[in-house]
Amino acid sequence: MFCVTLKLRTIFCTFGLVFACQAAMPTLATGTTVRDAAAIEREVGALAAHLSKLCPIADAASQSAFDACRKGLFSSTQLVGALSPYTLWGRQNDLTTSLKDSVLTQLAPEALAGMYMPLFMFDGRYTVSYSAPNDLFLVKLGVGFRNRLQPGQFPYPFWHDANKWSTYENAKAMLFWIDPKTGKARIVQFTRLGEGSPAVPVQSITPPAFDGKWLWTDGEGKTQPAVTLFDGLFDAANPYKQGMDSAYRALALSLRESQCLQCHVPNNPQRANKLVLLQSPAHAAAEIKRLMKQVQLDRMPVDEFGLEESLEPGVKALLLERGKFFEQLVDQAYAWERGQQASSSAAAGSVH
Ligand code: HEC
Repeated sequence: MFCVTLKLRTIFCTFGLVFACQAAMPTLATGTTVRDAAAIEREVGALAAHLSKLCPIADAASQSAFDACRKGLFSSTQLVGALSPYTLWGRQNDLTTSLKDSVLTQLAPEALAGMYMPLFMFDGRYTVSYSAPNDLFLVKLGVGFRNRLQPGQFPYPFWHDANKWSTYENAKAMLFWIDPKTGKARIVQFTRLGEGSPAVPVQSITPPAFDGKWLWTDGEGKTQPAVTLFDGLFDAANPYKQGMDSAYRALALSLRESQCLQCHVPNNPQRANKLVLLQSPAHAAAEIKRLMKQVQLDRMPVDEFGLEESLEPGVKALLLERGKFFEQLVDQAYAWERGQQASSSAAAGSVH
């Protein structure tokens, strides 16, 4: 039954009309109903309007527009609800590489919503189609990229790779690949390919030279990129925010000693298909639960062939101790923010 209906759906959909999919909406054996095209279309329409409201077209250098967009997306349950618990993120390099073979980064929703997606401005335009080869809905959202922000506003120097920077800078669409079973995006890409032009005319910049550092200290002694320390997202009065910086720096010593940063860094030296990033406080914060589990279960580190390697007991114990301390601060920092939000909405409520 399932195969027949699925096949039918595929046939309908290869003719390109997304609404034809409704006719043969399959039901999975587990009883899960596959989302029909009309439901996806409705959800996507609402999401596109939401994104363009929170992150409208602005000057590509505007810090205030970026800050407002970032805060909005980071706290948006609608956006987080549209993403998978680990969503794959990356460039669309050409129109022929299959999704399966694309090199992508695994990002938790808070990392995507707090650091990557706010770098884009949304013009509210969107299209929805169904990709039969991938069995995913493809949503294209019209975007422009904030290429003229200060270097510390990017989660890492995208310009370490000229082609990567150029794709970001000239991006004109964000692609959400939506799983019909969950209605959530499994993959989000940005692209300079296809028809149309970026939502804002691009004034290219020459980015700074990349000196090999994913984290650096600026002239005022501040850790950069500032966005990786939740600057502008967490309140400056958050008592745990500062501690996360030093706790991460201690953890990073262990990550380096345990070879983790030979693989889990943006230039992806091992060419992992689904890269996990650990090179900054915010990236590690989003991965800390998985990180602790992998080390506790001796699943990480691995060697260049992917075979598990054991850590010396002392090295492992210190890594776990530093990881635990960092994890506690991250949890406390989030809890403090939630407490602030709850008390400010209670205060707002009491006015009426
Ligand atoms: C030789 C390269 C290499 C080294 C060294 C390495 N990893 Fe990994 N790690 C990988 C690859 C490859 C994956 C799988 C990603 C994928 O799905 O393609 C992975 C996956 C992970 C994941 C995600 C696991 C999940 O739940 O899916 C975590 C967390 C992680 N590594 C942490 C670490 C930590 C911590 C260290 C150091 C103790 C480490 N890794 C060392 C290559 C490496």
